[in-house]
Amino acid sequence: MTSLCLIAGDGIGREVVQAARQVLEALAVPAEFVEAEAGWETFQRTGNALPEQTLAAVQAANATLFGAVSSPSQRVAGYRSPIVGMRKALDLYACVRPVQTPPLANARAGVNLVVVRENTEGLYSGQETREGDERATAQRIITCEASERIVQWAVHYAQRTGRRKITIVHKANVLRETCGLFRETALRVLSDAPDLQVEEMLVDNAAYQLARAPERFEVLVTTNLFGDILSDVASVWGGGLGLAASANYGTRTAVFEPVHGSAPDIAGQGSANPLATLSASVLMLEFVGLNSYAKRLQTAIQAVLANGPHTPDLGGTATTAEVVQAVIDQF
Ligand code: NAI
Ligand code: MG
Repeated sequence: MTSLCLIAGDGIGREVVQAARQVLEALAVPAEFVEAEAGWETFQRTGNALPEQTLAAVQAANATLFGAVSSPSQRVAGYRSPIVGMRKALDLYACVRPVQTPPLANARAGVNLVVVRENTEGLYSGQETREGDERATAQRIITCEASERIVQWAVHYAQRTGRRKITIVHKANVLRETCGLFRETALRVLSDAPDLQVEEMLVDNAAYQLARAPERFEVLVTTNLFGDILSDVASVWGGGLGLAASANYGTRTAVFEPVHGSAPDIAGQGSANPLATLSASVLMLEFVGLNSYAKRLQTAIQAVLANGPHTPDLGGTATTAEVVQAVIDQF
């Protein structure tokens, strides 16, 4: 039997993961659910935001659904972001964020792109130091190995999903060594994929083009920080953070999550949009091979987007529970 690990986290993470569980149970997905904990409240209680048991549960499961956690902006001794920690510990090297035109009034037509982001190194290497009060540095680590495998992942994804163009995003005109190595490696990998049209773009222009003409992109592949920012820009065209889903694929397992965070401004109000987490669940069901269930859930999400009800982030007045019920009513 397929085993799915659920990590609710903090704030609306709890509300949307609970919603997803309810929907997956109503869909009668042939899987067992294992709950594990992580996040700020877990840290406050146990001193560890990502307990060993949680990592073990993620490793033991076929896939994991992660809600969202709160991370303090100020330094807190001993606290590390559990999602960043999990990506590293489990070598979840490919962060993938698809963005498509949603069936909503006024949506920008023709958007169907995916941002593929290297997830383990770059500026998020974790090697940061504060030197006295006056200076701080971060190491941006780029390796040939990690660059090669992320571009390879993007190539396979493009070929598997029938896409024809890959855009390599970098800033090699300024970051000559780090982005230079990423660029050279990407071009070398792509030279073995003559079926794909290859384009390269500097990151600032990529941000501009994503804001101006998103329909021109198919697959973007880039380094960690650039991918983090560009995928949030791109998510606007998919209906915003309440709808955006994300996958972190590794060599052994994968973790699926909404792009949004714990949204403390609306937590506890029952108004969080559960559809981002449900779209992440679609990606999770595909990953574990439950394709017919993935398709039924995807169809139900599209129907609710098209016909309502909608939560306030989409201009509606519905609660999380009402949207969940509307999705379940589609099965
Ligand atoms: P956020 O994504 O939590 O919220 C940004 C805005 O979008 C807020 O106004 C929020 O109400 C709204 N929003 C987000 N998700 C929504 C949903 N499902 N339905 C309706 N509205 C939604 O980002 P913010 O405010 O920057 O961060 C809040 C906390 O979340 C911080 O502690 C941050 O560290 C954490 N965070 C965690 C992430 C994760 O666990 N992967 C990712 C991003 C932030
Ligand atoms: Mg982000």
